[in-house]
Amino acid sequence: MKIAMVGSGYVGLVSGACFADFGHDVVCIDKDPAKIESLNAGIMPIYEPGLAELVASNVKAGRLSFTTDLPEGIRDAGAIFIAVGTPSRRGDGHADLSYVYAVAEEVGAHLANDAVVVTKSTVPVGTGDEVERILKEAAPGVRFAVASNPEFLREGAAIGDFKRPDRIVIGTDDEWARDLMREVYRPLFLNRAPILFTSRRSSELIKYAANAFLAVKITFINEMADLCEKVGADVQDVARGIGMDGRIGSKFLHAGPGYGGSCFPKDTLALLKTAEDYDSPLRIVESVVKVNDSRKRAMGRKVIDALGGAEVARGKKVALLGLTFKPNTDDMRDAPSIAIAQTLADAGVEVSAYDPEGMEVAQPLMPAVTMRGNAYAAAEGADAVVIVTEWDAFRALDFKRLKDVANAPVMVDLRNVYDPSDVRAQGFTYHSVGRA
Ligand code: UDX
Repeated sequence: MKIAMVGSGYVGLVSGACFADFGHDVVCIDKDPAKIESLNAGIMPIYEPGLAELVASNVKAGRLSFTTDLPEGIRDAGAIFIAVGTPSRRGDGHADLSYVYAVAEEVGAHLANDAVVVTKSTVPVGTGDEVERILKEAAPGVRFAVASNPEFLREGAAIGDFKRPDRIVIGTDDEWARDLMREVYRPLFLNRAPILFTSRRSSELIKYAANAFLAVKITFINEMADLCEKVGADVQDVARGIGMDGRIGSKFLHAGPGYGGSCFPKDTLALLKTAEDYDSPLRIVESVVKVNDSRKRAMGRKVIDALGGAEVARGKKVALLGLTFKPNTDDMRDAPSIAIAQTLADAGVEVSAYDPEGMEVAQPLMPAVTMRGNAYAAAEGADAVVIVTEWDAFRALDFKRLKDVANAPVMVDLRNVYDPSDVRAQGFTYHSVGRA
């Protein structure tokens, strides 16, 4: 089947490459000529493990191509995916749907064959109805259906998530569209990936509900970590102990500096807007957003405490290891490191940093921070070394070398990467999250 993927950003590119790998004939479309040009030259616009290889092999096999020409790209496509961004609208947190609707208009203007138009972008409940209305108006007489098919891809693990999903959610009441989507996902179906068919509105809401629930889980364990520190308990044991209950589950219970990234912060806000619009409050999600926001700055204050408090912190030096919101990505969107660096700068602390992939994107977001070439260079003269993001490169640090270059052997491990007794045995003062 020919598949058109409109929007060659993170989701469109990963999904397009994986569909091509299934054997479909995929055209990825984007209106940014520079992006398409570099994709045609084999250069990926994002850092995602395995993506460059997957793209290269499918381009070579003739199943994957890139173009800025939407009318040509969607010609004869059985499924046309909309995978453009839905950023937070400035000011009110509503999802900005202007890109989605602009694509719907353009697709409608050029749709000449039967096709299922599928929203993969994360869109508020009811967006599919509006896409359908736009298409009906723009393409009278053409047979089409509009389906919702949310993505659940984690950055850094997106290809694995696509090929081995917990579930595939498809929202449409149209039997023809369901059959066509079954065909699109047939290779996964054969691997027994569960496919859940729902109404379009339920499918749209599933995406937001899933992300909001995961944000709740993370925030719950983060607050529990604060309590653990006060009462002398260990949050990792608490997480393990509750996670063994099958009703709770062990995943997404790692305490840390708060969630960031391209999805949770924006999607929780958009969900709250929907709740407000429908006068159906989501108070738990409201609290989660507030708690998570304040946590990021609180982590900066935790570092200041490790330096001996605000009175003595001024003029001291801190090294931040890891800046991206999580490892294996260069994404800095809503990364806790931004608020931490700002809190430290506000307190007069000098900050250096190292991140394996994110420094270029991070630098303009934290202009006062000096970027260094590796963890040890960042730690030179530091009064505290802070692990902000758990890149593999920081999981086996050479503590002797770190101690030699640093001004003081103090570590603040915001991801609980290390065993406290191991680090202390190396002569370090060690602070972590939710552990005595
Ligand atoms: C998320 C969802 O997992 C994915 O299904 C959805 O499609 C997009 O949003 P992503 O943003 O790539 O994916 O990252 P994820 O691995 O979910 O982590 C999100 C944030 O939560 C990160 O800042 C991470 O550090 C934090 N996190 C995650 C924790 O602090 N603790 C955890 O236990 C898990």
